[in-house]
Amino acid sequence: MARYAYVNGRYVPHGEGAVHIEDRGFQFADGVYEVIPIINDRMVDAGAHLDRLDRSLSELGISWPTNRRVFELVMAELIARNRVSEGLIYMQITRGVAPRDHKFPKGVPASIVMTTKRVPFLSQKKLSDGVKVITIPDIRWTRCDIKTISLLPNCMGKTAAAEAGAYEAWQVDREGLVTEGTSSNAWIVTADDKLLTRPASEDILRGVTRQTLMRIAEEEGLSYTEQAFSVEEAKTAREAFVSSATSFITPVVQIDDVQIGDGKPGPLSHRLQNWYLDYCAGQKQLA
Ligand code: PDD
Repeated sequence: MARYAYVNGRYVPHGEGAVHIEDRGFQFADGVYEVIPIINDRMVDAGAHLDRLDRSLSELGISWPTNRRVFELVMAELIARNRVSEGLIYMQITRGVAPRDHKFPKGVPASIVMTTKRVPFLSQKKLSDGVKVITIPDIRWTRCDIKTISLLPNCMGKTAAAEAGAYEAWQVDREGLVTEGTSSNAWIVTADDKLLTRPASEDILRGVTRQTLMRIAEEEGLSYTEQAFSVEEAKTAREAFVSSATSFITPVVQIDDVQIGDGKPGPLSHRLQNWYLDYCAGQKQLA
């Protein structure tokens, strides 16, 4: 079956999708993106992802190239054409094509690219077995709240993790506190049983999965605290996990060379994961 991409108004065979050599995304990483998971034929939290896309665009002064309703129709059409029932849709908007010049061009329409990918998320072993993470210095800029396509530090961190046989790298600020993973948010259950994740600020991306998990925790009567934690606290935690559109809730069983808890996914991580997966499958509604 042919797989399509959407590029600036056209559905094209995936392998033939192309952008102009002077697209500012290509030359300056001048653009933003979103990744939305698809489970049981439906996108999870599409509204929240599009709200964040809207915010990322406005923080960078990029205008929507089309109205949001049309954008949503294109997303749905691409998913239908590519028959994705489990996987993801990736969409990016860049500032458009202009002769190379650092300052933002005026009156140039933004470019849109959308692709989909089938991924058998729910059968992935990492959900049940947990993963290892390493810790690395956070070398990114100070606007990590904007979901920009400028991801080189994240790519370097993820590569270092893979080379160490780990799934993710937790980035650590100058005070020794964990900011977030290279493509996920970081959580721990402390030795005294507190569920912690770093407060949303310009230091991290305000994860949609993170936000939904907070709503689930509230509904289930679990308390959590938005509080930064140190690498030391993480290593002595009872449990740890990451959250993201493509990791869902993935337990962390090792940080650097230190085993977390008994080296198996912890009970709270397991419960939160189940609730979240039920929510993704449309089997759990939130108020
Ligand atoms: N990444 N932090 C960073 C740096 C991320 O890149 C992501 C998501 C998250 C989690 O956000 P959310 O829960 O909204 O997916 C946190 C996506 C999945 C990616 O880059 O592929």
